[in-house]
Amino acid sequence: MIKKIKPKTSLFDKFKKAPILRPVPSHIPKPDYALTGIPKKHLSKNEVTPEQLIKIRKAGQAAREVLEEVLTAVRVGISTEELDIIAHEACIKRGGYPSPLNYRNFPKSLCTSINEVICHGIPSPTRILKDGDIINCDVTIYLDGMHGDCSETVFVGEVSEQAKKLVDTTYQCLMASIQVVKPNAKLSEIGKVISKIANEAGFSVVRDFTGHGIGEVFHMSPQVNHYYDHADQKIMKEGMVFTIEPMINAGKWQCDILSDDWTAVTIDQKLSAQFEHMIYVGPNGAEILTNGQPFYQAQLKA
Ligand code: MF3
Ligand code: CO
Ligand code: CO
Repeated sequence: MIKKIKPKTSLFDKFKKAPILRPVPSHIPKPDYALTGIPKKHLSKNEVTPEQLIKIRKAGQAAREVLEEVLTAVRVGISTEELDIIAHEACIKRGGYPSPLNYRNFPKSLCTSINEVICHGIPSPTRILKDGDIINCDVTIYLDGMHGDCSETVFVGEVSEQAKKLVDTTYQCLMASIQVVKPNAKLSEIGKVISKIANEAGFSVVRDFTGHGIGEVFHMSPQVNHYYDHADQKIMKEGMVFTIEPMINAGKWQCDILSDDWTAVTIDQKLSAQFEHMIYVGPNGAEILTNGQPFYQAQLKA
């Protein structure tokens, strides 16, 4: 009998499959996964110390600045690869590492999610922005030991009324949910507010991706649901830092993952939008660590 032998994957095969990562200068401090692609398990406390708060404020501010550089470059005819380069260089310029790069083997420094892409779109030289697209750019920077994370959806050229309504509703969902943040509030209040606004507008809330605690680690507890889960008993504590990053769909809430293992798309190919802020739970309510004027509002006025 002939035994079937599974072809062994040689080191060479692995090497062939591994994407070439954009280099980061050696003087930039890197997160633990930068070389291996695997974040080490890190049971870090949710609440930040005053010293950590100072650093995380800077990381949030830097993420905001990088995001604004990227969004300023969005126009008909630019490739998402070019946006990736802008994000990459903007992080390095500030002494930071672009957190997505090799995080769980993500191949790029920025997430670019266009139209039916819900999140984790991979920048590519062949994806050129065209009139009528909507694009979410999601920036995370690792600066002085802390991750700062934020995103916005903007318009490319002239977009449909439906796209405008979806993007505006998603932003309103985020901002309204930030209002409920205060010590001792239920974390599930966030999803309750978001679901109400999204559903009343005729849209749905993505359930498979959530907000997350953030700090020395990119993704940690608590998990922040954007839909209402009445069984979620978690309580917001003063000093917590987490993201709120609702993804709102024009059609069904369900998603598919493409064969690149990253790109999440709506199952009905309808539009999806997202905004993300990083929030500190202060004694009197939320401090938005990535605050700024949303670009889409300026686009609507122009
Ligand atoms: N920035 C995303 C978030 O908001 C995470 C991207 S993970 C990556 O949580 F690997 F795609 F970068
Ligand atoms: Co995030
Ligand atoms: Co993000």
